[in-house]
Amino acid sequence: MGETVMRIVVIGTGHVGLVTCGTLAAIGHSVTGLDSDEEKIATLVAGRLPFVEPELDELIARATGEGRLRFDVEAPEAIAEADAVFICVGTPPLPSGEPNLIAMERAAEIAGRYATDGCVIVEKSTVPAGTAERVRRVIARVRPVGRGRVDVASNPEFLREGHAVRDALEPDRILVGAESEHSRAVLRRVYEPLVARGYSLIETDINTAELAKHACNAFLALKISYANALAQICERAGADVTAIAGVMGADSRISRSFLDAGLGFGGSCFPKDLQAFERLSARLGYEFRLLREVMLINEDAISAVVSKIQDELWNLDGKKIALFGLAFKPGTDDVREAPALALARRLMAAGARVTAHDPEAMRNAKQEVPQLEVAPGALDAAAGAHCVVVCTEWPVYRTLDLEALEAVMAYPFVVDARNIYDGKVMREHGFVYRPTGRPNVDAFRANVSP
Ligand code: UDX
Repeated sequence: MGETVMRIVVIGTGHVGLVTCGTLAAIGHSVTGLDSDEEKIATLVAGRLPFVEPELDELIARATGEGRLRFDVEAPEAIAEADAVFICVGTPPLPSGEPNLIAMERAAEIAGRYATDGCVIVEKSTVPAGTAERVRRVIARVRPVGRGRVDVASNPEFLREGHAVRDALEPDRILVGAESEHSRAVLRRVYEPLVARGYSLIETDINTAELAKHACNAFLALKISYANALAQICERAGADVTAIAGVMGADSRISRSFLDAGLGFGGSCFPKDLQAFERLSARLGYEFRLLREVMLINEDAISAVVSKIQDELWNLDGKKIALFGLAFKPGTDDVREAPALALARRLMAAGARVTAHDPEAMRNAKQEVPQLEVAPGALDAAAGAHCVVVCTEWPVYRTLDLEALEAVMAYPFVVDARNIYDGKVMREHGFVYRPTGRPNVDAFRANVSP
């Protein structure tokens, strides 16, 4: 079968929405990205992206240049012509931990009002199981009589920030939850160009697709917390968590990825999705205690670093601590739920002076924690510090001049919360070095008698 050009509308031009716009246009479809935020649309029309994501700017520039992608605030006309409408709006957490689905409801209202007969309305935002049923009811409420029938489907994304374009164009799998032959056929046509390149498409019912997304994210978070709990045992038993991860990873049933112990997970997905999954389970009458434990172990990872610093420096009042890295992971300027910021707050509350460096995320971090001091370079941040904590494994810290680092610090003490340095090398450079779940290093200091 030849590839068919589908007319697609994407509602919501955030991270997921824009990647969806760019990649669906790149595989040949005609895409309109809609957003009620006029400023955002003006930025996009002017050819700029509101955030950093590798490859996305070229992809979007090419698609808009070739007329396969446009952006608009006005919804009715584009939706009326669409074969499928992808809802990619934000679902931020409420104080209860449950996601705020108001944007989802608004998008469903707009899609339901203007879509014509046969259109498939696809939820792509991460939402709790059962949301499609709510979407269906919203559509039934707003849909004008005589406009024909629309279908609802679920198509969760598995995109990592910083890797989102590759994840979308070379997916491990495409997941489609649908309940009518028509909606399955429409989504097969949308993804036909990727399936033709050999990528697999898994079809399930809608509840299963919604839950599968939660299941994947929670499992990855669980692997990280497992590694962090192991790190605690390794520190007590004198073992090496990285070597254990290697042994575990050699077992093809386990795999090595997401077993790096450290300061724990952050970002806009894992913490929020875990909470939402735990709340959903409770609402459905099952206490998913394992998920709560995953979250607690993640918080413990920050406490463990604070303890290591207090063990070595005793009182933190008046001590200067430098943080290397603020972003929730390397390659992004995103500081949402970044463990480094939680650590900075804890250290400042204990009276420490905290100065940080990050290659990309300092501006966003200052907005979140205005009292945080930032420095233009890693060595500037470390100057006069009693401790450096590696919070994000940016390549620039791996290749730092360690001799210069030792020379600028008031006391050469490094807590490596991402295990980027080699203990032997740190000893040679005279550091007191505390990695995560690996043997401590105490450089010899013959300057005080017992
Ligand atoms: C994640 C999922 O990977 C993606 O499939 C989903 O769609 C959205 O959430 P993202 O938030 O971009 O993507 O980040 P990811 O690269 O998965 O890392 C998440 C966090 O886990 C980061 O804070 C990272 O530092 C931490 N992490 C990751 C670890 O601490 N150890 C590891 O071994 C792996």
